[in-house]
Amino acid sequence: MNDDSRGIAEDYPYEVVDQPGTDAAIGAVSVVPPSIPDYLQDTYWWAYLHPKALVFFEREWVVNLILWGNMHKLTRTVLDEMDLQPKSSVLQVACVYGDFSNRLASHLGQTQSRLSVVDVAPIQIGNIEKKLAAHDNVSAHHQDSTCMSFPNDSFDETVVFFLLHEQPEDARRKTVAEAIRVTKPGGRVIFVDYHGPKRSNPMRYVMKPILALLEPFAMDLWREELPAFMPAEIKAEQISSDFYFGGLYQKVVLKL
Ligand SMILES: C[S@@+](CC[C@H](N)C(=O)[O-])C[C@H]1O[C@@H](n2cnc3c(N)ncnc32)[C@H](O)[C@@H]1O
Repeated sequence: MNDDSRGIAEDYPYEVVDQPGTDAAIGAVSVVPPSIPDYLQDTYWWAYLHPKALVFFEREWVVNLILWGNMHKLTRTVLDEMDLQPKSSVLQVACVYGDFSNRLASHLGQTQSRLSVVDVAPIQIGNIEKKLAAHDNVSAHHQDSTCMSFPNDSFDETVVFFLLHEQPEDARRKTVAEAIRVTKPGGRVIFVDYHGPKRSNPMRYVMKPILALLEPFAMDLWREELPAFMPAEIKAEQISSDFYFGGLYQKVVLKL
């Protein structure tokens, strides 16, 4: 990571503090870190917040196993989807275990493009800073996806990889709206996530109890198409969807 990687301290959503005569008068800040959302603490502490989770999950083969061998294919489909100009700016909303971010950073490096990664969990920010230390085009930001502190239209492309199924509906809708807000007009938001598989897909009957037990919000993405969580002003012609592994996974590309 290069000098742009400001760690977690300088990137929190902030309040302007009125201190006339100092830099604060033009916007110096008192830092207010985002707190861990209840759903993350209550439902996913074992996967993302416990130090032993990193030891267990932070391996490509484990993530690939969880995705029934589809990790490489789903990563590749994101990279192939990107329409990068030289020096593009790309946002990854939330950390992902395994090689996803490394591969994304390397891919962006081919066009001197930059990757910003946000996550709400300090332990995940620390982990990705270490994991991507070899890349000089990456910065990590401690932010909540539901209220990011980037200005409007900051990024050419935004990627949301397997985050939405972990969020309750309200947080999911806010994350989608925020991803759209920070992406430039003409840019794209690429979502990859679970989807309700076809009735003929036996994985439907394997995954339903697993998700219902471990990932209760994921069933929303079985019941409803992902665009249902987009703001009302988004038009159907802006959206394209592809499905993988008998419909268990989806990629939805929103053109802004
Ligand atoms: C992208 S999701 C799941 C990715 C995938 N299952 C994997 O293999 O890692 C997991 C990440 O989302 C983060 N996360 C959850 N809610 C968030 C939020 N509101 N804002 C930012 N990050 C969030 C968690 O801290 C965690 O690092």
